[in-house]
Amino acid sequence: MACDRFGYTRAELVRKSIKDLAGSIQRDLIADMGQQIQHSETVQFELEIQAGNGKRIPYEFHARRIIYKTRPAVLSVARDLSVRKKMEETLIKTERLSAVGEMASGVAHNFNNLLQVIMGAGEAALTKLSTGEIMKCREALESLIDASQRGADIVRRIKDFTLAKTNDTDKGKVFDLGELIIDAVQLTKPLWANPAAAHKYRLNYIRPLWGFVRGNPSELYEVLVNLIKNALEAMPAGGVVTIATENRDGRLYLSVTDTGDGVAKENLRRIFQPFFTTKGKRSSGLGLSSSYGIIKRHRGELTVLNRRNRGAVFTIMLPLAALTDQDKTSKTADNGDFPDAKIKFLMIDDEINILKMMKMFFEDTDVVISTAPTPEKGLLAIRNDRFDVILCDLGMDNMNGLEVGARAMEYARRSGHPKTPFLLYTGLDQKLEPAELEKCGVDSMVKKPVSCAELLRIVQKLIRKQ
Ligand SMILES: Nc1ncnc2c1ncn2[C@@H]1O[C@H](COP(=O)(O)OP(=O)(O)OP(=O)(O)O)[C@@H](O)[C@H]1O
Ligand SMILES: [Mg+2]
Repeated sequence: MACDRFGYTRAELVRKSIKDLAGSIQRDLIADMGQQIQHSETVQFELEIQAGNGKRIPYEFHARRIIYKTRPAVLSVARDLSVRKKMEETLIKTERLSAVGEMASGVAHNFNNLLQVIMGAGEAALTKLSTGEIMKCREALESLIDASQRGADIVRRIKDFTLAKTNDTDKGKVFDLGELIIDAVQLTKPLWANPAAAHKYRLNYIRPLWGFVRGNPSELYEVLVNLIKNALEAMPAGGVVTIATENRDGRLYLSVTDTGDGVAKENLRRIFQPFFTTKGKRSSGLGLSSSYGIIKRHRGELTVLNRRNRGAVFTIMLPLAALTDQDKTSKTADNGDFPDAKIKFLMIDDEINILKMMKMFFEDTDVVISTAPTPEKGLLAIRNDRFDVILCDLGMDNMNGLEVGARAMEYARRSGHPKTPFLLYTGLDQKLEPAELEKCGVDSMVKKPVSCAELLRIVQKLIRKQ
């Protein structure tokens, strides 16, 4: 029977040892198992056997030492795994196919809904245009643009989990994840510190050790926001979200814990699948799958556990990074490499219309403008990019311009970059103490209203002075 299975004649087979049958690649494994058997252990291992017809057949071996006719010998039982392996492969293929099927129907479902909005809004705009109702036409066009943006957002998130993006996180910059968490906590504040539902949620942030990681801060930031949003959404009646970090064995662990009902057992396997959602039409079900893709690209892991008492814990593991010499030099090189580069200007204001207008004006100048509609988004931009000049509104909700200035200065100090000139602008005739302005890193005040052309002159003058 062994001759049939292995495809050798009896004479050939008795001359062959297990090492000959397995081939040289598996020699170490066999030697290792041999030693264990010598120590009277029963071992179990898998080997591929080279059959007489050249095929390799997977086998599972159980082996132990025995005494046979008063002499030491090895008793081993081998089981052919071909059928089992085939079945496993088929199962994996079927699972993959069904995941692809689910994903395709998720894409179709989401895009059909968006296309419906786009088509409807386009038609409505045309009708309103012909009846001369310009404001209604504008409204329709705005919802058309909004739906297109949502579509673009879905495509971006799909790219995140399909790993279609190039794996360039190794070349990414080194940054402090602890600071990024502070930004994520700040940005999600309207969700958990909603004045309409005061004291509904509490967010605990257990202050971390500094943890430097390498990669793309805005992608990791998105993962954090996804996890915080999920935690809040899991507690519709309110509860506590706890964010904690820990450095262990060269790795950084970040957990987001909530006090909701946890993930239903039957969903545990599916929550990282794209488009899987239990939240109905409003949710795309892409939060965890895109987060998973992002973390994998950063050579990390994203896992979930249900807590014994109540709630879920999502844990991100990321390898801690060490600053290389190249990172240190690139910090000082940044803009110096491009003496002719355009001036990079960041404008932070919660008046969207002002930002829109400025954007339009600056498009045709030598100044590249970026805009941020909230102080938190402004701080995120400052962390992720280098600007030549920053202009920030003084009176905004959540955080005023002075605070933004102070934090921008602190970022620069920590990261070793030179401080970016910071302009504060305000329409109030309020006198601010020079000492306070200096403490918050404000270089100069700009009075509202300021024309775009005037602002351009101020920015250019500041750069020339530098
Ligand atoms: N903290 C949590 N507690 C309980 N269930 C959770 C938690 N986080 C995620 N889930 C489950 O995982 C599913 C998938 O989450 P995911 O973030 O991918 O999508 P979503 O939140 O439903 O939609 P989106 O993030 O696109 O708005 C959720 O619908 C929910 O059932
Ligand atoms: Mg989500």
